[in-house]
Amino acid sequence: MKSAASLSAAVVLLSGSANAFWRMPCFSRTALMRLDPIVDPGTPSSHGHVIHGGSNFAETTTYDMLRESTCTSCQFGDDKSAYWTPSLHFVHGDGKVEIVPQIGGMLAYYLLLGENIKAFPKGFQMLAGDSQLRNFSGPVPDPPTSAWSLDDMSQESLAQKSLGFNCLDYNRAPEGSRYRHFLPDKAFLDQNCGNGIRAEIFFPSCWNGKDVAAKNHKSHMAYPNLIDGGKCPEGFETRLPSLFYETIWNTNAFKGKDGQFVWSNGDPTGYGYHADFINGWDINVLQSAVTDCTNPSGRVEDCKHFAGSLQTEQQQDKCDIQETPEVLKKDDCAGPAKGLCGNVPVQYGPQYANPLKPGSPDKPTAKPTISSVAAVPTQTYAPARSEGPGGISKYEAKTDAVKEAPKASSKVEVAAKPSPKVEEKPAAYPVVTPAPVPEKQNADPKGKIVSTTTYTSAGVVYEIAIEEVAVTVTVTDDAAYKHKHRRHADAHVRRHIGARH
Ligand SMILES: *[C@@H]1O[C@H](CO)[C@@H](O)[C@H](O)[C@H]1NC(C)=O
Repeated sequence: MKSAASLSAAVVLLSGSANAFWRMPCFSRTALMRLDPIVDPGTPSSHGHVIHGGSNFAETTTYDMLRESTCTSCQFGDDKSAYWTPSLHFVHGDGKVEIVPQIGGMLAYYLLLGENIKAFPKGFQMLAGDSQLRNFSGPVPDPPTSAWSLDDMSQESLAQKSLGFNCLDYNRAPEGSRYRHFLPDKAFLDQNCGNGIRAEIFFPSCWNGKDVAAKNHKSHMAYPNLIDGGKCPEGFETRLPSLFYETIWNTNAFKGKDGQFVWSNGDPTGYGYHADFINGWDINVLQSAVTDCTNPSGRVEDCKHFAGSLQTEQQQDKCDIQETPEVLKKDDCAGPAKGLCGNVPVQYGPQYANPLKPGSPDKPTAKPTISSVAAVPTQTYAPARSEGPGGISKYEAKTDAVKEAPKASSKVEVAAKPSPKVEEKPAAYPVVTPAPVPEKQNADPKGKIVSTTTYTSAGVVYEIAIEEVAVTVTVTDDAAYKHKHRRHADAHVRRHIGARH
């Protein structure tokens, strides 16, 4: 199960950033399997993952085991680290599920942000994201970092803003990284993302300096207060490399087909996207690389510490997991199959999803029940305006645009408007562009507000209400489901001057 497409097409980056970094291409998967030795050690994981890196990956995986890997699917042959994320699947109208083609494996960026960066220590492992999340409490898109409030900088908020889904169309100016923190719905993907979607996630990079792991796999680490910049919180002053994963999924392969996308953990929204890392580096080599691999190109070919161990794409492609656990031999995570591997149910949210059970499912996989389209905001295509570290193009709403916003009198209601001009020129207002309002004439007047959120920028309190319009879905028979009414989310922005509450 190899992803054969060329990696070069997978990378759309602006260059010229002063921040040092390198990106580790992992050309192919070592496995597509229900394995997660961090979250579900010693047992099959509850859901499937695309796994890259060292071949000695198993239900239980230690640093020493990874170092003994006979190969890695990444470019630097001596990086035996394990990198994994959920896989993306397409649920056809008839309930059949198949994996979305993954293009170019994974890119793992090592961004050298901050001072005195230490190599990941032996035994180090971490998790980013939360598989059970199904909503986001912040505005969409993010306000400019210069306007972030303390709430925007809470660890929970930073974690949600650390992941994103970038709509790819190589004929258009690229969108900024992590521009939206949800998976756009199928209609948006079909219309805008001719080259698929790039899933992106930042790991926290501030370490408590002593624990290589944590019970919840996260609490030994924290995000700096601007994610890819800013300060580490107290108690987490040790800087480790900032890891950032990118994987590209060719959603366009299903253009025009009836169905929807869902992550392997049963998440159609993307809010529950997550990623895992277990260090498999020779610590001295990683420390030398952190100190010396500062060529602005970010290419591993341009650093002496990687020379001599660089693998061709063909070599990376040959590296497969050394042993498939017996109980997983009957699993079919790629499909087409009757459901997601692990018998994972689709959970839409917005409430926190029920936990999934690790181990072998007691029943054969069941067809996922599609009860509605994913509850995510709709959105315009928005190209990047500035660059992030390591040349990662970044959407950054302009601060001056915020300042230019007309002074509103108290409680003026402003309906969200489509903002197609955002590509040529930053709109003075609304800075927050939640959505063009689609299909207004079909809106169910009884739509209820599923979430509201506020944020303050330049003295203006923005309030966003995401309104959900009811949907009725009738399962007529085994092989078909029909949307009686299409549901959509309307977002309204209200703003008023006032103190933040
Ligand atoms: C959104 O997710 C949070 C965190 O899981 C949860 O506490 C909250 O109830 C959810 N919001 C809604 C509207 O369900």
